[in-house]
Amino acid sequence: MIPKIGDPRDRVDGRLKVTGGARYAAEVPMPKMAHAVVVNATIAAGTIKSIDAAAAKKAPGVIAVISHLNADKLHGPPKPNPQQAQQSGPPQNTGNLRETKALPFADATVHYLGQIIAVVVADTLEQATHAASLVKVAYNETKAKTSLTAHRGEAEDKKSTFHKGDADAAFASAAVKVDQTYVTPYEHHNPMEAHSITVGWDGDEVTLHDSSQYVYAVRQTLAQAFGVPRENVRVLSPFVGGAFGSKGGTWPHVLVGALASRMTKRPVKLVLTRKQLFFTAGHRPMTEQRVALGADRDGKLVSIIHEGVSQGSEVGDYMERFTSPTKVMYASPNVRGANPVVALNVSTPTYMRAPGENPGMFALESALDELAYAANIDPVQLRVLNHADRDPMQDKPWSSRSIKECYTRAAERFGWSRRSPQPRSMRDGRLLIGYGMASSTYPAHRSPASVKASLKSDGTMVVQSASHEMGMGTATVMSQLAAETIGLPAERVRFEYGDTKLPQAPISAGSMTVASVGSAVYGAARDLRKKLIDIAIADPRSPLHDANPDDVVTSEGRMALRDDAARGETYSALLARQYLPTIDAYFDAKPDEEEQKYASHAFGAHFAEVSVDPDLMIVRVRRMVSAFAAGRVLNEKTALSQYRGGIVMGIGMALLEQTHFDERYGSYVSVNLGEYLMPVHADVPELDVILVEEDDPHVNPIGAKGIGEIGIVGVAPAIANAVHHATGKRVRDLPITIDKLL
Ligand code: MOS
Repeated sequence: MIPKIGDPRDRVDGRLKVTGGARYAAEVPMPKMAHAVVVNATIAAGTIKSIDAAAAKKAPGVIAVISHLNADKLHGPPKPNPQQAQQSGPPQNTGNLRETKALPFADATVHYLGQIIAVVVADTLEQATHAASLVKVAYNETKAKTSLTAHRGEAEDKKSTFHKGDADAAFASAAVKVDQTYVTPYEHHNPMEAHSITVGWDGDEVTLHDSSQYVYAVRQTLAQAFGVPRENVRVLSPFVGGAFGSKGGTWPHVLVGALASRMTKRPVKLVLTRKQLFFTAGHRPMTEQRVALGADRDGKLVSIIHEGVSQGSEVGDYMERFTSPTKVMYASPNVRGANPVVALNVSTPTYMRAPGENPGMFALESALDELAYAANIDPVQLRVLNHADRDPMQDKPWSSRSIKECYTRAAERFGWSRRSPQPRSMRDGRLLIGYGMASSTYPAHRSPASVKASLKSDGTMVVQSASHEMGMGTATVMSQLAAETIGLPAERVRFEYGDTKLPQAPISAGSMTVASVGSAVYGAARDLRKKLIDIAIADPRSPLHDANPDDVVTSEGRMALRDDAARGETYSALLARQYLPTIDAYFDAKPDEEEQKYASHAFGAHFAEVSVDPDLMIVRVRRMVSAFAAGRVLNEKTALSQYRGGIVMGIGMALLEQTHFDERYGSYVSVNLGEYLMPVHADVPELDVILVEEDDPHVNPIGAKGIGEIGIVGVAPAIANAVHHATGKRVRDLPITIDKLL
């Protein structure tokens, strides 16, 4: 009924966004609204000795200065059950509010530099900003732990260890070996829209406009923190100006803003500055990863070891699962891995586009390239030779796995056969040319989601679920999916989302929105279609009276007999005759047991061509060809945009992105968009993306695996491998900057 590659429809929210009509969280007016500006700690560890707010309180327009000294206490959420410590599975709502000590204004303790230690509320933003600068804080500073390398020995395992066979023994006796350490830096999401809220209380009821990937969890956290029933909390997030994982948690500023509003009895707007975003809204943690690969003389893997550490924080439980892809990519009789966390006096990291897989695949796919040279085999052939025909750790069949088609089709379009393997052997004039490739993967998760679908007598349909639109195309593809399922033109379907008044949806993260919410949309639209057909069949005045429901087809808002198109009627005609203003269907979708029998992942491959100036060592990505197989594609246009967005971000990761961190102070220092470098148009060549058709009957009811993150996975190693091919230099710590090549 639904095509494998869906119509390339334009975004339904595109017009509102480009005309400025879309209203974001900080743009919602509330009567008598005040402005809140937070004060951040300037030390990385210690306690607050005193806060002198006298000058701030006297400043014009100031309504309150709130800190641990005078704040109403917030209630901490229950401690997480250690059994739930995440080994795998879809992302949950983290942020750094899992433990009471992380609640804003809990006590005088400073856990990391930038921690919110006070908030100033004033009539205008300028007044609040000025008064915040007048708050004088004195500290008792203690020695902070800020260096991942220095504290590597204190890593906490958090149940990340896995093994099969004896990887160390097999590595020791392997004929061909690679054993290297790879480093990925601190990175920040830097969405265009800063994290912001507008919040107002009415007695014990609160309305929060947030920029969020998970409104239901924000509601839960607010209800717990303020000790009010969940029903009293409404969270709205209809537009999100980028997130990339940074808006999946409930960060401290949300509670601080809500508290400021409650204590001052004024609606409050709180917008973090670009600089503040770097300290209290999550980041990708630094990782140090060892990958040791052992193979026989033909390049067949006998051992894979992937271990290392990533930065964690004192006040959160986030773990960067960089060994995840190592559990699924290649077959080897002996495998061992672990990715423990080192708790530092640095703010809590969080998911950033393709957490785990993205930094992990930089290490693994770089090591594979090194092994290809050590074993003298083509990098693509090496990967095909070691293809995992079943999930290697779980010994399950794949729900589908079309990575070989990805290699073949991308290699052919790229012209991989023209590559001469020797480093520095290809040139364009004086420029060194390098070809590199890497695999890509991301798991296909889904979580429970609920949808209400309502067909109205005017022939339009409203589909509702508290999901989110961060720019990835949710609203567009959900209305398409509903329209195709029930047989309506897509423009007659409206998807409503981003509001806790709507049926529950999971976090929009982990590339699982389409699989989770889409399965519910599909279920609701299918049930609604059946209801309509049944009513028609039962109605003596309907042309379809007494028809066999299996003989009825639906399209363009009309039901008719498959073999006699004239015998039928429109949905509107049916509803009008029945005096029904609307017919609803409600559907709860959740993963079923059958799906658990399979291992489900999306796969892909990137091929990159770089040029390197032999004197200045300036790297340019000249072209990229990428192929992905991720089950059914709901909308060709938004899918290609998702993939390209991921690849652009991957180019940034390879060559530009890094939050410079000064370990002496525990402070990020490149905290603006002038010094935090991201790709601009001139850095991005044409990105050729191939959608490999894949039919997956097992993954979920709609057969779509999710594509929000896989685009970035493998880009950095493909480029690093190309840089090595061009120059003979292997850069194992990102980003690949000029200094590392000179
Ligand atoms: Mo994503 S990093 O799972 O929002």
